[in-house]
Amino acid sequence: MKKQLFATAFLITASFATSPAQAGDAAKGEAIFKKCMACHMVGEGAKNKVGPILTGIVGSKVASVADYKYGKSIIALGETGAVWTEEELSEWLINPKKYLRAKLDDKKAKSKMSFKLKKEDQRADVIAYLATFSPKAEEAEAVTEEPAVEETTTEETTTTN
Ligand code: HEC
Repeated sequence: MKKQLFATAFLITASFATSPAQAGDAAKGEAIFKKCMACHMVGEGAKNKVGPILTGIVGSKVASVADYKYGKSIIALGETGAVWTEEELSEWLINPKKYLRAKLDDKKAKSKMSFKLKKEDQRADVIAYLATFSPKAEEAEAVTEEPAVEETTTEETTTTN
């Protein structure tokens, strides 16, 4: 699974990047995640803060963290069955509001997340870091709908939708 994610990250990055050095680096991503920590937690014991828990976010459904009060627009997107692939996450991080407006084709769509991460290499790195956390059962019930790939030993085909 992780291999596949990294491979995907690489392909995505490679198709945009000006240099191959920009493939996502999880170690660097951990440092970049400090910016997100003003509002998000990830990993063991993570709790919803200003923003939802990001444990297992890569490959999970949009707006599916239990007990987090999402804004209307992102809920609407989640209802379409949208999934956070690495590519979608990268688009989201450029500008969450614009992302929702484009996805929903709604000029009035809004995001509660005001933060933007413009630098492409930073987006790739932080997403690579997030990809190192697999879906976790106890804290984010909605995410348990997604098979915990590492534990079930099945192939990544089980993670889509
Ligand atoms: C200033 C606070 C803030 C910062 C900083 C922030 N976010 Fe968010 N984030 C939010 C809020 C609030 C939401 C919920 C959006 C909504 O409901 O419209 C959110 C939602 C998200 C979602 C969608 C989650 C889901 O369950 O569908 C992702 C992914 C995300 N943020 C990633 C990040 C990453 C990665 C960073 C750092 C690069 C970051 N955020 C930085 C506040 C923040």
